[in-house]
Amino acid sequence: MRVLVIGGGQNAEHEVSLASAAAVAGALRSGGHDVSEVTITPEGVWRVPGQRDATTAVASLASALPLLAEVDVVFPAVHGPLGEDGALAAVCALAGVRVVGSGPRAGAIGMDKWATKLVAQAAGLRVARGRLMEAADIGDAEFDGPVVVKPVSAGSSYGVGLAREEGDLAGALREAARFDRRILIEEIVRGREIDVAVLREARGVRWAAPPLEIETSGLFDTATKYDGTARFTVPARLTPGEQSALSRAALTMFDALGCAGVARMDFFLTDDGPILNEVNTMPGLTAASQVPRMFAAADVAYVDLVDRLVRAAEVPGR
Ligand SMILES: Nc1ncnc2c1ncn2[C@@H]1O[C@H](COP(=O)(O)OP(=O)(O)O)[C@@H](O)[C@H]1O
Ligand SMILES: [Mg+2]
Repeated sequence: MRVLVIGGGQNAEHEVSLASAAAVAGALRSGGHDVSEVTITPEGVWRVPGQRDATTAVASLASALPLLAEVDVVFPAVHGPLGEDGALAAVCALAGVRVVGSGPRAGAIGMDKWATKLVAQAAGLRVARGRLMEAADIGDAEFDGPVVVKPVSAGSSYGVGLAREEGDLAGALREAARFDRRILIEEIVRGREIDVAVLREARGVRWAAPPLEIETSGLFDTATKYDGTARFTVPARLTPGEQSALSRAALTMFDALGCAGVARMDFFLTDDGPILNEVNTMPGLTAASQVPRMFAAADVAYVDLVDRLVRAAEVPGR
C-alpha cells in the first residue's frame, strides 16, 4: 500500500513523534509498503521532502494536501494536541482518506483527561478523584491534601507534578498551566502502573495484548520516560484475575470511546483492582516503546504490528 507517514507536530512531544514516525516508516518499508513522509514543524509548517519549503502553516498545508490524493492510507504518528487529539484524523475524514488509528471523536476525548474520566466512570471503571481548575484561577487554589497536578491535555508527563504540601501547590499549578489552560488536580493513587494495549484488526476484532508493568519509584516523569532508566516488565506478573480485570477494563474503554487502530490504556493496579489513569490513542510507536513491546509478547512482531494497523485503517466517520 502507499502510506503517508506524518511525524513531528506542534507540541512538547514533537521529538517523540519524530522517533515514532521514523520507526513506523522504516517498518512499513520492510513490510513492502510504498512510504512517503511529511514532518510538521513545531510552528505548524508541513515539510514535504523535495518540495520548496512554504513559510506559513496554511501555505504549507495547502501544498501538502495533494499528497492525500496519492496514497491509500495516512499514518499520523503525531502524539499530543493537534495530532493525537483527532485533528489529523479529521483532515483525513474530510478528504475521505483512510487513516491509521482512532477517528476525530475518540482522539479528542482520549486527549482530554477530564472527559476521559467522565466516560470511564460512566462505563463502570474506577478513576482517581479529581477536580478541574482554570489557569486564570490558580491564585485561588486551596490545598486540601497531597495531590497530583497535570494539564488536562498533554503527554510524556510534561507539566505533571506532585504537590505533597501546601508550599508545592502554586508551583505545580503554574507548571501545568504552561501546557493547557485547564488543569486537573487529582488524589495520589498508590498502586502498580500497568499499561494495556488494545488493537482493532481489519475485520473489527479487538483484543488486548499482555499487560506491561512500569517499574518506577514515584512519578513516571519525562526524564525517566526517555533516559533509558525505565524498566518495563512484559508480560507483567499478574494473577489471572488481575489480568482479566485489566484487559476487560481496557476493552471497555476502547469501545466506550470508539477507538480504532491501537490505543494504550494506562492503569494503576490497586488492592481494590484497576483504576484508569489515562488513554493514549496514538501511543509511542518506536520498536522499544511500550505498545510494540506488548504485542511482541503476543508474538506480533513490530513490522507485523504496523502492517496490521495500515490494513485496519478506515475513513473516519463511516
Ligand atoms: N493520580 C495519580 N496518582 C499517582 N501518580 C500519578 C497520578 N496521575 C499521574 N501519575 C503519575 O504521573 C505520570 C504521568 O501522568 P499521566 O497522567 O500519565 O500524564 P501523561 O499523559 O503526560 O503521560 C503517570 O505515569 C504516573 O506515574
Ligand atoms: Mg501517561
